[in-house]
Amino acid sequence: MRMVDLIAKKRDGEALTKEEIDFMIEGYTKDEIPDYQMSAMAMALYFQDMTTDERVNLTMAMVNSGDTVDLSGIEGIKVDKHSTGGVGDTTTLILAPLVACVGVPVAKMSGRGLGHTGGTIDKLESIKGFQVELDGQTFNDLVNKNKVAVVGQSGNLTPADKKLYALRDVTATVNSIPLIASSIMSKKIASGADAIVLDVKTGSGAFMENLDDARALAKAMVGIGNGAGRQTIGVISDMNQPLGFAVGNALEVKEAIDTLNGHGPEDLTELCLTLGSHMVHLANKADSIDEARAMLVEAIESGRALDTFKVFVEGQGGDASVIDHPDLLPQAKMTKEITAKTSGYVQEIIADEVGIAAGMLGAGRMTKESEIDLAVGLVLHKKVGDYVEKGDVLVTLHTNKEETQEVEDKVRNAYRMHADKPEARVLIYDVIT
Ligand code: URA
Ligand code: CA
Repeated sequence: MRMVDLIAKKRDGEALTKEEIDFMIEGYTKDEIPDYQMSAMAMALYFQDMTTDERVNLTMAMVNSGDTVDLSGIEGIKVDKHSTGGVGDTTTLILAPLVACVGVPVAKMSGRGLGHTGGTIDKLESIKGFQVELDGQTFNDLVNKNKVAVVGQSGNLTPADKKLYALRDVTATVNSIPLIASSIMSKKIASGADAIVLDVKTGSGAFMENLDDARALAKAMVGIGNGAGRQTIGVISDMNQPLGFAVGNALEVKEAIDTLNGHGPEDLTELCLTLGSHMVHLANKADSIDEARAMLVEAIESGRALDTFKVFVEGQGGDASVIDHPDLLPQAKMTKEITAKTSGYVQEIIADEVGIAAGMLGAGRMTKESEIDLAVGLVLHKKVGDYVEKGDVLVTLHTNKEETQEVEDKVRNAYRMHADKPEARVLIYDVIT
């Protein structure tokens, strides 16, 4: 088989066979196929798209390019959740204990933050003592005992995706639905999930800015998951403003505690109940989505969800006293209030700008190597649809830096105001099954 023939075939709009896709991905992973040929292929794929069979075959070829996590020692249907990336997205911290407490095993691998989106592993590290690196046996034992453990990525998972993603980044081929979908799904399948709930974000803070693109991406990923024998559903949710109020590591842990207590922000609570209901249903712990949702609401109201968070934190060596005393979490030296310069309704809050502002305070990494400040970030007081009087506090900054003018300007600029009340905001646009 010759790579040049496969490039020509795809250029002309034909579908590649499983054998051809395996040849290409194996060869590329082993450096037998050079970057320039893979670049030409990526561009051909960008323009010619892939059939569902091709997408499944590409995904599985990337899964098989490296290690896979074996979760077979954990009882029950392991359901993973994946978000395409948002700002202030605290959902994993809430969902892990919430669904675990109704019997769904959560054996999750999470990432660190990079750029303007935060990572669950960094957030968890703001709890003193919390261990994010566990060996495989300890991880399995913890999930069997407590139903929940969350670890950082380890092992050589999907090396083909790492290589291809880096290549796409410099060849203008990131934004291709089959390539994004297979990239994300290969990582979920390699990390051992039996079933997958996807949270596909749409809006100014998301990868897919418009709803049609988000829907197409969700359909592509659901098609791959189901084609690969992993039941998958996609929830399309709004990212035209940050989720909840808090953006920043320790601040989001506190927000997760509030939400598990039943006092969380409305949007964050609703998104967690929606995603969680699908997880519980896919894990066969409820006969319907409505029944699953009722179980989760009960878990919050009875305090069992919060108790499970304590067990989860203690299980990984963390100081669980922060749950009753969130002021023990890392605290910034100063707070500063950002006030509105005009009156009006909040129309939109450009989420990635808010994420960048939090990053400038030190909550995010500018490069993979940079250190982050777990204490800092910001808390929104006004959200889309709220009326604001000139002089009202929009946001509180939690900062260890004296000089914050640039951050303040960025945050103020992220708030788009209008004289008229905007239409009611939609949080969940669609569920793709
Ligand atoms: N995230 C991924 O993991 N892969 C992509 O291709 C795009 C976003
Ligand atoms: Ca938040």
